[in-house]
Amino acid sequence: MNPTTETTSARRWPSAGITRVPAWIYSDPAIYRRELDEFFAGDSWSFVGLEAEVPEPGTFKRTWIADRQVIVTRDGDGIHVVENRCSHRGGAIVWKNRGQARTLTCPYHQWAFDLKGGCRGVSLARGVQGEGGMPADFAMKEHDLRKLRVARVGGSIWASFSDRVPAFEDYCGPLAMQRLTRLMPGRPLRLLGQSRQLIPCNWKLYYENNRDPYHGTLLHTFFITFGLYRADSRHATSPQQGGMHSVNVAAPGERKGDGSLTRELKRFKDIRLNDMETVQFADEYGDGEMTAMQLFPGAFIQQHANVLAVRVIVPKGVRETEVDWTYFGYADDDERMQRIRLKQANLLGPSGFVSIDDSELLKQLQRQVEGYPESQAVLEMGGQGVEPQVTMATEVGLRAFYQYYRERLGL
Ligand SMILES: [Fe+2]
Repeated sequence: MNPTTETTSARRWPSAGITRVPAWIYSDPAIYRRELDEFFAGDSWSFVGLEAEVPEPGTFKRTWIADRQVIVTRDGDGIHVVENRCSHRGGAIVWKNRGQARTLTCPYHQWAFDLKGGCRGVSLARGVQGEGGMPADFAMKEHDLRKLRVARVGGSIWASFSDRVPAFEDYCGPLAMQRLTRLMPGRPLRLLGQSRQLIPCNWKLYYENNRDPYHGTLLHTFFITFGLYRADSRHATSPQQGGMHSVNVAAPGERKGDGSLTRELKRFKDIRLNDMETVQFADEYGDGEMTAMQLFPGAFIQQHANVLAVRVIVPKGVRETEVDWTYFGYADDDERMQRIRLKQANLLGPSGFVSIDDSELLKQLQRQVEGYPESQAVLEMGGQGVEPQVTMATEVGLRAFYQYYRERLGL
């Protein structure tokens, strides 16, 4: 068979539509490149940090939007986000993840930029003893760092490479904004910690996992054992903005039925915790709810019991995904609440009692989908549509995402 024909036919989306996902999308390098350019570096907003991470003028933070590095700075005028890429030769200017600086100076030829990204100095611009140097018509102001659009909500900082993407609030839509400002209402935030992990899987497997409540009480035995997340509790899964984003809400204290369902689910029979504070949920917002929200393409904002976290997907290759976790609380939390948040943070992160299941599962899943690129996943739990559903026995979040995904990439 002609190899070109073979590739073309293998690259067609299954005719069944969004209830099927072809496995080749998790290992195809050309698809991966398009995702980075059109999603992460395209018309989207990305989480780049908390205001508490750049607390005063002259502080900066380096972070990644997929494979592009950016610098979040603060000066007397506010917070700025610029690409960490020298306008001279393209090198990284800042090599540290955090620091203090009055100017940003590239180590290669020491071109210097102010904290807004304005080009302020070109070394040896006039040459040496009348020889060399830049041409007389060279204009520094034409060589600023690339500046990103910035949005700030309740102490969080978001950035976009796009001039066309709608304002952050419109990009999120009303429900996602409401869930975000529930956790970040403008009450000053406190950074509690950060962690980072590398998972050997395509970024979409991780993205899907987080909007898949179906696996929550099946894979995560810890949840069932300690009742933090239950299949028979009130639950809502709501795709947003045509499937880009997703809002999941669970109220673990509100049960439907007689409990027979959760009795059937597997749990650790003999495991007890010495310190139950790790799994006791204090209803601090007065609605009994836990919330997990995804903002396309890479940000998850999460309240699991009393752990508040933002995690960011940083794709590092077609089969490698970094997940950056930022745990936060409120500056006015009392000592007890701060302790509870830190204890419950053991549920999440690289070795979290719950999250570790996902990392291992997705690593194995990546090998499987790579080995069978022409196979298809079946997504029919909760029907075939994309309407919000009030159950966790649904894959509506995944179907809605792939509806959006196919539209964006024309697949
Ligand atoms: Fe999970």
